[in-house]
Amino acid sequence: MATERTFSILKPDATRRNLTGKINAKIEEAGLRIVAQKRVRMTRDQAETFYAVHKDRPFFGELVEQMTGGPVVVQVLEGENAIARYRQVMGATNPEKADPGTIRKEYALNMGENSVHGSDAQETSQMEIAQWFSGNEIVG
Ligand code: RTP
Ligand code: MG
Repeated sequence: MATERTFSILKPDATRRNLTGKINAKIEEAGLRIVAQKRVRMTRDQAETFYAVHKDRPFFGELVEQMTGGPVVVQVLEGENAIARYRQVMGATNPEKADPGTIRKEYALNMGENSVHGSDAQETSQMEIAQWFSGNEIVG
């Protein structure tokens, strides 16, 4: 197993309910280290670029509205197998299907407002990290 980095977002539904600390605790308890973090308000352009892979999906407009509807916390997480590990800790996209103890099971409101994002592969994690952080903002 290799040490990896993954990109994470605490979404507006989570920041609105003051869940940053509780979600960060779950991340750290899972053995992932938060090596970069900042709170930002996504512009429409930034959200459309970030989720460009979903631009033809029926939920795209709603997704962009939600992601720009309040502050988010963007993060880089580091650890063994960080990409897959964080996907496990997040739980399924639909919180009703998420395993007990996962972030989405405990905190997500619904399929759209599901509290967190995590990269799904090495290539996407590199692109996503590069969209939001410069090298000297990441301190491992
Ligand atoms: P994410 O990219 O945010 O980490 O989530 P994911 O991989 O589990 O899910 P993905 O299929 O990539 O979808 C991206 C986000 O779009 C919203 N979504 N809404 N209403 C719907 O049917 C629907 N499907 C997806 C969710 O916010 C999901 O996280
Ligand atoms: Mg995804």
